[in-house]
Amino acid sequence: MQQDMILIIDLGSTENARLARLIRRVGVYSEIHPHDLDEKALAAIPNVKGIIFNGGENRIVDGVEVKPSAAILAAGVPTLSIDCDGAPALSADDDAVIEMLKPFIFDTCAADANWNIENFIADQVELIRRQVGDGRVLLALSGGVDSSVVAALLIRAIGDRLTCVHVNHGLLRQGEPEEVVQVFGKELGADLIYVDAVDRYLDKLAGVADPERKRKIIGEEFIRIFEEEARRLSSEGVKFLAQGTIYPDIIESGTKTAKNVKSHHNVGGLPEDLKFELVEPLKMLFKDEVRACGAALGLPDNMVNRQPFPGPGLGVRCLGAITRDRLEAVRHSDAILREEFAKEGLVGKVWQYFTAIPDMKSVGVRNHARSTEWAVVIRAVNTVDAMTATAAPLDFAFLQRVTERIVNEVKGVNRVLYDLSPKPFSTIEWE
Ligand code: XMP
Repeated sequence: MQQDMILIIDLGSTENARLARLIRRVGVYSEIHPHDLDEKALAAIPNVKGIIFNGGENRIVDGVEVKPSAAILAAGVPTLSIDCDGAPALSADDDAVIEMLKPFIFDTCAADANWNIENFIADQVELIRRQVGDGRVLLALSGGVDSSVVAALLIRAIGDRLTCVHVNHGLLRQGEPEEVVQVFGKELGADLIYVDAVDRYLDKLAGVADPERKRKIIGEEFIRIFEEEARRLSSEGVKFLAQGTIYPDIIESGTKTAKNVKSHHNVGGLPEDLKFELVEPLKMLFKDEVRACGAALGLPDNMVNRQPFPGPGLGVRCLGAITRDRLEAVRHSDAILREEFAKEGLVGKVWQYFTAIPDMKSVGVRNHARSTEWAVVIRAVNTVDAMTATAAPLDFAFLQRVTERIVNEVKGVNRVLYDLSPKPFSTIEWE
């Protein structure tokens, strides 16, 4: 294994993730683990050079103070306590924390600053090969950042013993299914099963206007289709299921000392009798590290730096009951908007941008005659954490250029609006 590790043992801190990031910032890999690791679990964590006991306000769980297990106490590496057993809490100043950590990490533990993406990839490749042996792995490949990076990593580790299933539910952005097939099926040589579920989805969604029901149908249908493929492949001897779980998913799902923020389900809902063993090589990475990993594995830039895209896809941007004409219009106008953002050099400068189509027509003029057509809404927001957001101050001439293109090129659209609303009171998406 390439990387030294500083292990953080969570004794109720709310700052485990910050501490891990600060240790990684000085070039040493760090992972957060629960207080009750047994000998076997501890032995499976490679190259532990030191342990930090990270206490805090959640130390008492169900009336009992959490304590490190006997195995952890017997690990035989240097330890440091923070915010517990009389030791002070972490300073709010990152630089001060780093100054405090450096002597422990480099002098006491003698760890090497050898955390970088290349070493991470080399270690994960080794760990995946150890876990999987000569078995086969299944992955639901959506084309989003996380599942794409997992696919690239697994291809590096086990080649065509990875089977990817890409479900095209008809609600993806323009060019996405084609890109998945091109990059993974052709360039990286993955064993890729492409499921064209467009009609199946649109038939199920026909006439359904309630946003919650739409989301539910989209999610459930995905599980059903994936389950069909998984059942077939598991009967052929596929034992492992890979998931693009990343560290924030784990934090949000709650730890042994912190309550659940929101339950995370990556593939979720696969029936109990499908007993896959999980492979989750990105589960200790933060989003920016996942992107760096994808870039180092040679994935195209636009795939690695993709904007957030809701699980239900364009389904939540084609408001009300989804119709094929409006779905095409939202897909086409979104492609135009992204193209114009790229031309204008705005990619990466505005946090998220897309179009939505309300279920509403208005009067216009086309070919010298009165016509009634759809309106397209442009949404472009800046935010830090998506909890609050403001409309991006786009240049007026730029908005006019985009509008001109949309009304000329997108079938059935005669009007373009710019959504100025902040979150709150609006949300980023319209549905
Ligand atoms: P809202 O609309 O809640 O969006 O202000 C905040 C961020 O979350 C994205 N979003 C979703 N992502 N599944 C997802 O994976 C969803 O159902 C979903 N709904 C919203 C949205 O694009 C924005 O970045």
